[in-house]
Amino acid sequence: MERSNHDRKIHVVICSGTTCYLMGAAELFGIEKALEESLASRISIEGSPCMNLCKGGSYGKAPFVKVNDTLIATATVPKVIEEIRRQAAM
Ligand code: FES
Repeated sequence: MERSNHDRKIHVVICSGTTCYLMGAAELFGIEKALEESLASRISIEGSPCMNLCKGGSYGKAPFVKVNDTLIATATVPKVIEEIRRQAAM
């Protein structure tokens, strides 16, 4: 049976490499607590080693987070939540 989009899991991958961690990735792991239960139950959160996005000129754009296929630079809790809501509504 096909699952509706509303059951689709939203995978949140938080870069936990040194640069991203120092630039604020640590607080992003608390994102689940900032979401209402109906959305919190739909997300899975995992850490990733350096995604190699912080090299060269992109250093200042850390921390990086992926919400499914969408990459978020200079990620903050509100920015990631906004993207989770956008995808949850699709
Ligand atoms: S530490 Fe996050 S992309 Fe390198």
